[in-house]
Amino acid sequence: MLTKRTRVAPLMVAILLVTSFIPGHLPARAQQTSPVAPRREQVQAAVREAYDKFKSDTGGKNADYIPYLAKVDSKLFGIAVVSTDNQALTVGDLDYSFSIQSISKVYSMALAMEELGPDTVFQKIGSEPTGRAFNSVFAVADMPTHTGNPFVNAGAISTVSLISAKSADEKWNKILDFYSRAAGEKLKLIDEVYKSEAATNTGNKALSMLLAKYDRIYADPFESVDIYTKQCSVGVNVLQLARMGATLANNGRNPATGEQVVKAENVPYILSTMMMAGLYDGSGSWSWHVGLPAKSGVGGGIVAVVPGKGAIAVFAPPLDEAGNSVKAQKVIEFVAKKLDYNLYSPGSVGLKPGGQIGQK
Ligand code: DON
Repeated sequence: MLTKRTRVAPLMVAILLVTSFIPGHLPARAQQTSPVAPRREQVQAAVREAYDKFKSDTGGKNADYIPYLAKVDSKLFGIAVVSTDNQALTVGDLDYSFSIQSISKVYSMALAMEELGPDTVFQKIGSEPTGRAFNSVFAVADMPTHTGNPFVNAGAISTVSLISAKSADEKWNKILDFYSRAAGEKLKLIDEVYKSEAATNTGNKALSMLLAKYDRIYADPFESVDIYTKQCSVGVNVLQLARMGATLANNGRNPATGEQVVKAENVPYILSTMMMAGLYDGSGSWSWHVGLPAKSGVGGGIVAVVPGKGAIAVFAPPLDEAGNSVKAQKVIEFVAKKLDYNLYSPGSVGLKPGGQIGQK
C-alpha cells in the first residue's frame, strides 16, 4: 500500500497504513486454528508496531550477484500475516512481485515428497546443516552425503532432479502449478529475473557437475539447474507468500482454497528442515532468538510458519552476510516475541508462568 509515490507527510502515512483483515469463507473443516492463537487485534497491533519500528532501518544490502536484484528498490517493505482460519492482515508494499528465490526450495522439497515420500528424499538429498554458505562447493565436497539438505543450492538442484516428468517443460509446469496451489492463486515467472540469473549462474552449474561426480543428481545436471533457476524466479507478493506459509501452518491445507496441497504427514519434515537450515548459517541464531521454522530468499522475502496458527511473510530487499533480509528478520523476531509464537516457549502452547494452561 505504501509505495514510493505515496511517501508523504507522516499523518498521511499513518492514515495509509490502515491494516486490514479479510475474513475467511471456508467450511469449518478447513479451519484448524489453535485454541491458543492470539486474537486478531493482538496480531494487528504487533504487526503495525513492527512496521513503524523498522521501516527506517537501513541495515543490509541488496543481493547483487544476480544483477536484477541489485536494481530493486531497497526501501520496499511489506508485511502479511495469514491465519489458519484464513484471515489476512497486511501492511506496506503489497503489490510488488518479488522473486521467491530460495523460499521456492521449501515447496519443491514438498513436491518431491508428495511423489516419492519422505524416506526417499531423506536418503537421496539428506537433512543436515552444512554450516557453510548456501552456495558452497566445499559443503558438497566435504559432506558424506554430498548434498546436505534440500535448502542449500546443491540439495535444491538435486531435489528438482528427483521430480518426475517426461520433459523439462512438463517438470517446470508441475512445479509452478504446485507453488500456485500452495499460494491459492496462479503464480508467474518473472522473466527478467530468470534471464538475469540464467546469464550469471556458473556457480550453480559447477555445483550440478560436482553432484554428478558423486552420483547425487538424478536427471540431467544442466536441465536441473535451468528448472531450479526458473523456480527461483517465480514472482510472489507478500500476501501470496504468507498464504504459502499458512498452507504449511494449516497441516498442508491451503486455508484460502481448502485444498490439501501438501500431505499432512509430510509437514513436520518440511518444518524441521526450515528450522534447521531455513536461514542457512544464520539458522542457529534464528532458532535461538525466534524459534520458528522459516525460509529466506535473496529476493528479500522471509516466511515464518507458526503451526496451527498461521504464517508471517515479510519482504524487504537488503540482506545480511548470510543472505537473509535484515528487516524481515527483525520484524518476525519482534512479532514472534509479542505474540509468544516461539515454539520453544511455554506460552506458545498456552502455558502460563504458573504452569496452568489457558487462553491468552
Ligand atoms: O541460486 C541462487 O543463488 C538463488 N537463485 C537463490 C539463493 C537464495 O535465495 C539464498 N537465500 N537466502
